[in-house]
Amino acid sequence: MSPVQQRIEELRREINGHNHKYYVENSPSISDYDFDMLLKELEHLEAEHPEFDDPLSPTHRVGSDLSKGFDQTPHIYPMLSLSNTYSIDDVDAWATRVREALPGQDVEIVGEMKFDGSGISLIYEHGRLVRAVTRGDGEKGDVVTDNVKTIRSIPLQLQGSGWPDHFEIRGEIVMPWASFERLNAERAFNEEPLFANPRNACAGTLKLLDPKEVSRRGLDAYLYYLLGEDLPFDNHYDNMEAARSWGFKVSSAMKRMHTIAEVDEYIAHWDKARRELPVATDGLVFKVNSLRQQLNLGFTAKSPRWAVAYKFPAERAFTRLRFVSFDVGRMGIITPVANLEPVLLSGTIVKRASLHNEDIVNTLGIHEHDMLYVEKGGEIIPKITGVDTSAREPGASPVRFVSHCPACGTALVRVEGEAAWVCPNKYGCPPQIVGRIEHFVGRRMMNIDGIGEETAAALYAVGLVRQYSDLYDLKADDLLRIEGFGPRSAERVIDGVEASKQVPFERVVYALSIPFVGETTAKKIARAVGSIDELMSWSAERLESIEDVGPRIARSIIEYFEAPVNRENIERLRAAGVQLAMPEGYAEAAGDKLAGKTFVISGVFSRHSRDEYKELIERNGGKNSGSISKKTDYVLAGENMGPAKLEKATKLGVPVIDEDTFLQMIGE
Ligand code: IVH
Repeated sequence: MSPVQQRIEELRREINGHNHKYYVENSPSISDYDFDMLLKELEHLEAEHPEFDDPLSPTHRVGSDLSKGFDQTPHIYPMLSLSNTYSIDDVDAWATRVREALPGQDVEIVGEMKFDGSGISLIYEHGRLVRAVTRGDGEKGDVVTDNVKTIRSIPLQLQGSGWPDHFEIRGEIVMPWASFERLNAERAFNEEPLFANPRNACAGTLKLLDPKEVSRRGLDAYLYYLLGEDLPFDNHYDNMEAARSWGFKVSSAMKRMHTIAEVDEYIAHWDKARRELPVATDGLVFKVNSLRQQLNLGFTAKSPRWAVAYKFPAERAFTRLRFVSFDVGRMGIITPVANLEPVLLSGTIVKRASLHNEDIVNTLGIHEHDMLYVEKGGEIIPKITGVDTSAREPGASPVRFVSHCPACGTALVRVEGEAAWVCPNKYGCPPQIVGRIEHFVGRRMMNIDGIGEETAAALYAVGLVRQYSDLYDLKADDLLRIEGFGPRSAERVIDGVEASKQVPFERVVYALSIPFVGETTAKKIARAVGSIDELMSWSAERLESIEDVGPRIARSIIEYFEAPVNRENIERLRAAGVQLAMPEGYAEAAGDKLAGKTFVISGVFSRHSRDEYKELIERNGGKNSGSISKKTDYVLAGENMGPAKLEKATKLGVPVIDEDTFLQMIGE
């Protein structure tokens, strides 16, 4: 194999790997810029050596976001991407090419923000939204109308006048920074994996099967492209202004320009000003305004010649390390944190950046007081990306990972096969105890309002709450002694504690902070055992018969209940009246009426939510699936079931039942 062919193969393999990480795992490991550079190198080599072309090369496709659980539909006009540029010179070169292709004509250019979210196509008929489709593979996309309808800024019925009877409008669904930060704070609290950036959070949200949850997460949408047979104007700008008058959100950054000098000025302005915007942007887009000129310029296979994207450089700051500290989490995991001389980055002052684990500290080779590069690409959590060794102080020693817990002094242990060090002093180490109290009161656990991180720490510090069971002995007067509490906030906590006695057993199991027992596993365990007394008496073998429980979780449960403090906690919860068993009659309700049956759920329901139906199916021994196949036994259909699903079910002879029929089947 020639060196060129070898390089081509290598690039294809690498690019395919990154595509999978990006589209399937939603966790990219390189920057968009680096990815584009790999793709460009491959495109270049393939163009020079057509003999090595391969129809399956990643250059022959646009990435796909298609997923199970949604109906798919072809796009009326394919959804293409934009060619990227990374410098003002490249944009100028594009503008020059455009002018040369349209000799003697006046060319107007429209500048806009490049929003960093998920592309969407909205179809309107007679002024009403009929369909919302994701980009998918560019040719066909997922129908996500129910989810998109929850976005308040998207008009369901148009205002004003003059819209065509049939048209399509494209834009970007985005998750504003405020929603993103709220969502991640909530996830951090629940120890769920965080979203790396608003784009991933947005894509994940748009593919949820529960529109209620989508609605809660606070998405927004900006529109930037009108398509159809009889548009009101012959140019992009006026069409978008018309769309604005029909009720669409069109960015006020949109600007008409005539000279390259204006384009340069626009770039210089927004490179800074974008930091003030409420949503993430990763660049600017320049478009030829006249639709007739757009038509003349046409498209390449992947992108229009009449538009180009300019990507902002990743923002990077350079600052000095003050010291490395070590945080202790609820499960005792030690996280190294770089404490920095405050530095301005993407509009916020950065003082701390996570160093994740010992391996990362060692790979970076950080020394005391080093000068560090901090980056915040699309990501919200800044990360240390490099060290300037030339600026190192003479005699500085390398940063060493601690050997003992910074909070309680216990010798750390390294988890086998993992990069993490852990403090084993579970029941004596203050941040671990406070972390568990905080978890216990969380919204998805006991939902005790009015106690956040600081309050939990303060209650612990003054000795009022040493274990989560102490919460049930709190008096309003005790709380009034703590700074920041007034009669009203104290009462809110007391009421929250009282109300938590009605929280179902399933959530109590999750609230206990049994290592490795997450929300879903806790539910399965609670239903399988029925009560805390059963749970405390089951053997490892028996525990392992529960779905999702393997040897590691079984061992963790047994160890948990071996610890006297945990047994004491349970007894005090019992005395307080906390739910320590599933409700009466639950065992009979659950059964195997649907054993061996596979269901696909589609549409919107009125008696229960989609998630509740899923749960009912599982509780009765059935299985849920995202797509209809020969193996499907029933389609449970609500209102607005997708036409493609209905057609498929009919074709395969799968019975389609409504919610009443389903509830009869399980005897509810
Ligand atoms: S125009 C045929 N305008 O960027 C050109 N796209 O990299 C249609 N995007 O798929 C796209 N902001 O999802 C256009 N102001 C903007 C945009 C924008 C963000 C996204 C869009 C597109 C991708 C291309």
